[in-house]
Amino acid sequence: MTPPKAALWSRFQRHLLECPSIGLSLDISRVNFPDDFHARMERPMQKALIAMAELEKGGIANPDERRMVGHYWLRNPALAPTRTLADEIGRTLADIKSFTTEVHAGRIAGAHGPFETVLVIGIGGSALGPQFVSRALGQPKSDRLRPLFFDNTDPDGMDRVLAELDGKLGRTLAVVISKSGGTPETRNGMLEAKAAFERAGLDFARHAVAITGTGSAMHKVAVAGGWLKTFPMWDWVGGRTSELSAVGLLPAALQGLDIDGLLDGARMADDVTRTQVTRDNPAAQLALMWYFVGEGRGAKDMVVLPYKDRLELFSKYLQQLVMESLGKELDLDGRIVNQGLAVYGNKGSTDQHAYVQQLREGVANFFAVFIEVLKDRDGSSIEVEPGATSGDFLNGFLLGTRSALYENGRQSITLTVNEVSAFSVGMLIALFERAVGLYATLVNINAYHQPGVEAGKKAAAAVLSIQQKLVSHLHANADRTFNADDLAAGIGDPDAAETVFKIATHLAANGRGVKSAGGRGTGTLFQAA
Ligand code: PA5
Repeated sequence: MTPPKAALWSRFQRHLLECPSIGLSLDISRVNFPDDFHARMERPMQKALIAMAELEKGGIANPDERRMVGHYWLRNPALAPTRTLADEIGRTLADIKSFTTEVHAGRIAGAHGPFETVLVIGIGGSALGPQFVSRALGQPKSDRLRPLFFDNTDPDGMDRVLAELDGKLGRTLAVVISKSGGTPETRNGMLEAKAAFERAGLDFARHAVAITGTGSAMHKVAVAGGWLKTFPMWDWVGGRTSELSAVGLLPAALQGLDIDGLLDGARMADDVTRTQVTRDNPAAQLALMWYFVGEGRGAKDMVVLPYKDRLELFSKYLQQLVMESLGKELDLDGRIVNQGLAVYGNKGSTDQHAYVQQLREGVANFFAVFIEVLKDRDGSSIEVEPGATSGDFLNGFLLGTRSALYENGRQSITLTVNEVSAFSVGMLIALFERAVGLYATLVNINAYHQPGVEAGKKAAAAVLSIQQKLVSHLHANADRTFNADDLAAGIGDPDAAETVFKIATHLAANGRGVKSAGGRGTGTLFQAA
């Protein structure tokens, strides 16, 4: 039963948290927590806030990897635990700005003239933040450099991007981003880009910079190759919280975006969300709502619905930040907990014509996070109906969907910001970073490692090793045909028949030294080609 409107209005007034210094308000009135919920959660939340304070002081917050977690220092270097770290952060920011100035002035230029495009090559935390910020703040007409991305090892995906760069590579700057410097997708993207530059008769090194850990494989390649410049990534910044390091700031600055605004928004959000007063702390409130709705075990998915096209990639960005941080098998005491909080979403009102039907009437396995942006557009709007603009419709759809969901027992949180600006984007990033950190302590997990991602990388490496063996085996026995079982046995890995079948099928489909020589389906015979 939905409470009467007057009761809801009173609940809204009681629970609306306004943070004017960062232009944010947070409405948790459409979450059905009982009156004593906050009192019950105060002790665990205080523990989480204390853990966060320790982390910010430089404590080892990532116990598995024995690492500090310092993304908060990026926007306030004075908080860094040592002078050396603070200096490094400041120096890197100054380097980003001076490099960008040189690029914009055309003093650092490509073989065919001043750079016009920046091709960002990275994946996961080394791509999602830059992509989100680029889309949120970019103005295609006035961007200083046009941003394009390689964020996968899909050859066709890269070809599509390269097609847009046809004839323009001589004015394209490649920014290769990899904290570890060993991520295969990014290495492949770099090699594909390099090959494209070479096909165009251009020297890749004159068009490339790297953002990577000092001494990493990528760093060595960049230094040995004489690339234009390298910028550091530090082990105390996690990939998914690296948007305000060189990873996000360099591409944004090159595009011409206001990186000081991003840093200011994040720093001020940190100031607001650092408070130990739970009721005044929007990050703590978010974490508590996640905890309540999902019963502390991610029982409900979070559907992120920004009603603003510019924020469309925010849900994708949050998907990584939240799910890679919170999706963990073990808790900090080593118990199997299989924690997580599933995140999806695109934008409203577009999604109302896609999956919102199910949200309203189907499986009630989610809660929504609406993001409302008060400012409709630069300039004035026409009326599309008497007294109503397109922006009024957008607002109406948001409020209508929020009510319609709540009437049907679907809970939601609403974040309201004044506008999409560098400041508000930086603020939103910092707000969710801290909410994730606080929630992780509430459910007793390490938010700062990603053993599942590492496991995937190892498994892929194993597949590629099988591929090499099977190709060698086929070519050493070029006159013979093999089914998958024989081939797996032939390479000394009889349990790998299914993997062998899949690899050989893929190689044959691409004419890559293997062909099918009769048989069908899983009984296909393979032969060297
Ligand atoms: O958040 C993370 O740690 C990951 O998603 C990484 O960003 C991703 O795997 C890319 O790693 P790297 O920057 O080392 O290439």
